[in-house]
Amino acid sequence: MDETLRIYWKLYNEIFTNEILIHKSHNLLRKFEEEFIEGPILELGCGQSNFLVEFSKTGKEIFAIDNEEFQLNLLKKRIESYAGKDAGKLHLLNITIPEKEIPQEIFSLVIATDFLHFFPMRGCKNIISQIISRTQKGSLIYIKVHSKSHSYNDTSDTGIHEYYKHFFTEKDFTELFDDKYFERIIFSNTVQNIRSKFTREMQTKWTKKVLDEYQIFDQLERQAIFEENNKELNVGSLECVYRRK
Ligand SMILES: C[S@@+](CC[C@H](N)C(=O)[O-])C[C@H]1O[C@@H](n2cnc3c(N)ncnc32)[C@H](O)[C@@H]1O
Repeated sequence: MDETLRIYWKLYNEIFTNEILIHKSHNLLRKFEEEFIEGPILELGCGQSNFLVEFSKTGKEIFAIDNEEFQLNLLKKRIESYAGKDAGKLHLLNITIPEKEIPQEIFSLVIATDFLHFFPMRGCKNIISQIISRTQKGSLIYIKVHSKSHSYNDTSDTGIHEYYKHFFTEKDFTELFDDKYFERIIFSNTVQNIRSKFTREMQTKWTKKVLDEYQIFDQLERQAIFEENNKELNVGSLECVYRRK
């Protein structure tokens, strides 16, 4: 992970207390909580997952996968302070997908938020085929990814396209989630054109920390970078909830 992202996630940890994290997060799975079947929860690329923090109070066993140790440590602290004794067994797995396979458990819920767009479609297909063999009838799967409507999809900046390997369409989801195995419960296609005040302020604090870290103190240069970061993007995302047949 590059240093600017590390600064972001540390700041995220400071600003988003567990209470704020859960309050500000859009959790489409909450309404299906009564339908969670027996079995552990898995999240791929969990970071400091609002879902894992919130659902840790269910007492379910959790498998949290991320390839950044510091993110897993921050998640552990969050779950310990949020659920305390109510938390189930927590497995923190520092694994790089797809170099390592997903653990051989049968999960009740699989979550991948802002994760699959780091893989080309063939990588996503490999991940979904692993999910098929690690879920059973009634398991729920939640996915959120950047859509083709995201401003980053339009950019000619090759660095961005190397970082985000795929921007998704509804058709991609139909291809990935074969209706032989999955029934679609929710499909949502959203574009956010204007950030909230809260997000803008977070972005400004992040930029300031990055400029300080890289010792960029020239006022004109700082101003130009702040202005660039203050430009609005179209943040296009697709979200799906599937139930395993
Ligand atoms: C954009 S963040 C999303 C974090 C979290 N799901 C959320 O929505 O807040 C992506 C996370 O995936 C992790 N990650 C990226 N590539 C990975 C890979 N190939 N295997 C495992 N984790 C990965 C990163 O360390 C990061 O914490």
